[in-house]
This record gives sequence, C-alpha cells and structure tokens, in this order.
Amino acid sequence: MGPIHFIIDQDIELRLLAEQDAPALFSLIEQNRPYLREWLPWVDYTRSAEDERAFIRSLYEQYKGNHGFACGIWYQGQITGTIGYHPIDWAHHKVEIGYWLAANYQGKGLMTNACRAMITYAFDTLKLNRVEIRCATGNIRSCAIPQRLDFKFDGIVKQGEWLYDHFVDLFLYSMLAGDWEKQRDVQHEK
Ligand SMILES: CC(C)(COP(=O)(O)OP(=O)(O)OC[C@H]1O[C@@H](n2cnc3c(N)ncnc32)[C@H](O)[C@@H]1OP(=O)(O)O)[C@@H](O)C(=O)NCCC(=O)NCCS
Repeated sequence: MGPIHFIIDQDIELRLLAEQDAPALFSLIEQNRPYLREWLPWVDYTRSAEDERAFIRSLYEQYKGNHGFACGIWYQGQITGTIGYHPIDWAHHKVEIGYWLAANYQGKGLMTNACRAMITYAFDTLKLNRVEIRCATGNIRSCAIPQRLDFKFDGIVKQGEWLYDHFVDLFLYSMLAGDWEKQRDVQHEK
C-alpha cells in the first residue's frame, strides 16, 4: 500500500491516523461523550489520550499487517472524526467500514464523502469485492449514509452489537465492486 492520503476537496482530507493525532482526537471524544456513547461501544473504555494513542498504535499494526487502515477526517484543518476498515477479510475479498464524526461537524456531507473515498479505494486499489456497513436500526443518521451511497439492504443482524448494557439490532448494508463501478458516474453527480 502507498501513503494513505485522500484529498476530497479544498476543505476535506483523510490521512492515516498517527500517534501524534491522539491528543486532538481524545479531546474531540471528551467533548462528544454522551453523543458518541449512544452508538459506539468503545467510548467508556477511552479514558485518556494514552488510551487513544494505544488504539492508534494497534490500528497501525493492523495497517502494517496489510489488514486495512483507519484515517482521521480533517475539515478546514480541524480533525473531526475517523473512518476505518475493520480487519480485511482477504479470504472472502470483503471489508466492513466503521466511522464517527463529532456532533458539530454533522450535516456537511463529510462522512458520505469519506465513505465514498474508502469504498473506491477498497475496490480499485485493494481489489476487494464487497464492502459492508452495519448500523444500529435506530441510528438514522448512520443508516442514511449507505442508503445515500445506494448500498443494498441485506437484512437485520439481530442483537448484533452490545452497547454497555443492552444489545442493538443492526441493519446490514453492502456494496459489490461491480455495482459500484456501474453507478460511479451517477454518484459523482449527486
Ligand atoms: C453517523 C454520522 C457519521 C452521520 O453524520 P452525518 O453528518 O449525518 O453524515 P454526513 O457527514 O455524510 O452528512 C450528511 C448530511 O450532510 C448533508 N450534506 C451537505 N453536503 C453534502 C454533500 N456534499 N454530500 C452528502 N451530504 C451532504 C446531507 O444532506 C446530510 O444532511 P441531513 O442529515 O440533514 O440530510 C454521525 O451522526 C456520527 O458520527 N454519529 C455518532 C457515531 C455513529 O453513530 N457512528 C456510526 C456507527 S454505525
């Protein structure tokens, strides 16, 4: 894999997360705890910049092992959230994407655009065949992302995620390489 850096437009860029991003990312998490906690299982376990640094180190190991990577999303020079591949399933040529954004950077299309870049990379560069996104059934804003990108709805993963004290059901969405290729021109016009 070459250096990971996606320039989406003059305001938005994605870069491989580095340990030096840990303090800024941790302070973003601090400012968004109750909001992030509603849908993400790791928030309560991220208690310090050092925890975040250790997590970024583990992501880097994942990247070095050729199992996929995670990027920070910068908007006008500010880090706003992250997007990453879960470990790539090379045997079955597929990967799942996960993401989060600070509350006050919602509504600008940052994540839809970041997903588009990571999906294109998964198909064009990594030559994968399938990209999955799983969202809790109640997470309307997250579900809107695969829907906006014309993913197929594959079904419900009952009690697919444990969030601190309860299970949530997940909607499973997917995009296949062939379908992405077909609708790429249409997506660019959206
Ligand atoms: C899920 C999450 C990333 C969605 O954020 P979001 O801001 O709704 O998503 P986007 O950045 O793609 O922005 C889409 C919004 O920007 C608008 N927008 C503006 N310019 C846009 C553009 N160029 N392209 C697409 N959408 C654009 C869209 O209309 C949409 O607004 P709407 O919801 O009012 O219709 C965010 O809510 C979040 O991080 N939540 C907490 C953590 C979480 O749930 N993570 C996912 C777990 S599965």
